[in-house]
Amino acid sequence: MIVLVAGANGKTARSLVRMLVKDGHKVRGLVRKEEQLPEVEQDGAEPVLLDLEEETVEGAVGRAVEGCDAIVFAAGAGPSSGAARKETMDYGGAVKLIEAAERHGVRRYLMLSAMGAADPESGSEEMRPYLSAKARADERLQSSGLHYTIIRPGSLTNEAGTGRIDVAPSLGRRGEISREDVAAIFATTLEAGNTFGKTFEALSGGTPIREAIAQI
Ligand SMILES: NC(=O)c1ccc[n+]([C@@H]2O[C@H](COP(=O)([O-])OP(=O)(O)OC[C@H]3O[C@@H](n4cnc5c(N)ncnc54)[C@H](OP(=O)(O)O)[C@@H]3O)[C@@H](O)[C@H]2O)c1
Repeated sequence: MIVLVAGANGKTARSLVRMLVKDGHKVRGLVRKEEQLPEVEQDGAEPVLLDLEEETVEGAVGRAVEGCDAIVFAAGAGPSSGAARKETMDYGGAVKLIEAAERHGVRRYLMLSAMGAADPESGSEEMRPYLSAKARADERLQSSGLHYTIIRPGSLTNEAGTGRIDVAPSLGRRGEISREDVAAIFATTLEAGNTFGKTFEALSGGTPIREAIAQI
């Protein structure tokens, strides 16, 4: 498949890009700064320079998705950003790619969402703008006609992956999961037809990733 990964120099996304390339996919790695281009090339992807907050669906965002089979939204404004960028990036950036997918016939869309997006009001005051942005982006994707999968991990760590996870629409607990395991969930989910139209939470757990995804 030809897969566009938004936020390709991000910590989770870099791991995912390498996995997708290893699995034989052609990856377009979307980044917003010129100095990030060599990293993306090193990972085996074709770099695309594009700022999702600046560019339009009619312009560069649309062109970036043309000819793709799938889009992975793994970008984000990050914890040091304020409420305004949660709106322009975590919500707006994701929605631009949904609209571009709809216009250009890209059927598959995978969203890196977050545990807590199911109920933003229950988050802390500090987390609410982020969770609200994620929740609304997820809702926009759910009401699109796309073959979507929304994955909501708990707190991300930089530990090595264990290859074992717990997944369910609602896990009923909070916890952690490594970025490497999240990347592996995305790589496994990409072509798993049983995940189309599904939204689920993910934490480090007890079931091998492929088995857990097959059962979702
Ligand atoms: N941290 C957690 O515990 C947690 C938990 C659940 C879900 N999540 C979600 O998981 C995502 C990935 O996490 P991570 O820690 O791997 O991410 P990360 O390393 O912060 O990567 C996010 C990427 O998005 C890019 N980006 C920001 N603004 C952009 C724009 N306008 N146009 C294009 N790209 C842009 C960033 O580029 P720059 O380097 O140029 O800023 C960065 O490469 C987060 O964004 C978050 O929504 C996080």
